[in-house]
Amino acid sequence: MEKLEETLNYLNKMTASFKPEIAVILGSGLGVFCNDLKGISIKYSDIPNFGISSIEGHKGELLFCEIGNKKAVIMQGRFHYYEGNPLEICTYPIKVFKKLGVKTLFITNAAGAINKTFKVGDIMMFSDHINLIGDNPLIGKNDDTMGERFPDMSEIYTPYLSNLAYNTAKELDIDLKEGVYIATSGPSYETKAEIKAYSILGADAVGMSSAPEAIVAGYLKMDVIAFSLLTNYAAGISNAKLSHKEVLETGKTAGLKLCTLIKNMIKKL
Ligand code: HPA
Repeated sequence: MEKLEETLNYLNKMTASFKPEIAVILGSGLGVFCNDLKGISIKYSDIPNFGISSIEGHKGELLFCEIGNKKAVIMQGRFHYYEGNPLEICTYPIKVFKKLGVKTLFITNAAGAINKTFKVGDIMMFSDHINLIGDNPLIGKNDDTMGERFPDMSEIYTPYLSNLAYNTAKELDIDLKEGVYIATSGPSYETKAEIKAYSILGADAVGMSSAPEAIVAGYLKMDVIAFSLLTNYAAGISNAKLSHKEVLETGKTAGLKLCTLIKNMIKKL
């Protein structure tokens, strides 16, 4: 709590107490989202109690801005478990956003497609997730003023936001896919046998983030929607070898589509 107060005091001082209602977390290569947005940028490294974001393709800044007439805070890059950040740190910004007044969270990431009907460059909206990271961000003493000890996760992704995404995608002529995301710790990409197993478990896409953030947002009773940009086929789905460079390149081209979808959704909220 004291840590949160310290973070909030700093952000309030830097932004003249800007009160965002919407937060967007941008994954690998999705930094283009901010190209036409103006506002107050703050480096993570300057924010008390924030984690470390060291991955190429992640700018490591918060942007406080307006999208349409909505006040928003954009996370340009996230904190990953595989960087050595405990999940509590990875999800700390969600608690900060809640305290700033955020009601709706948009999560994005780059992911590998497991479902063979999906194409590289497609956008997949989460219908649900499987957290296979082997850890949970809510482990530890619970603060009952924030949320319940055993929060329900049966409808973690908010139905009205999914409907809004569908309708908005239709208007924009975007072929929006829907499926189950499986989160692993990384940083190694998966083996072919693992991907086969995840497919049997019911996963349509695989990545190394997002589920912990969604768990904390659900715990805090925020409305949540998450999208994967399918930057490659997962191991063994195609014969290609996986590389972060490929992930970033596909992120750049196909990412624009996802940015347009989210901005149009925000304007309608
Ligand atoms: N696996 C895990 N994470 C990923 C992938 C993948 O194939 N692509 C982008 N992020």
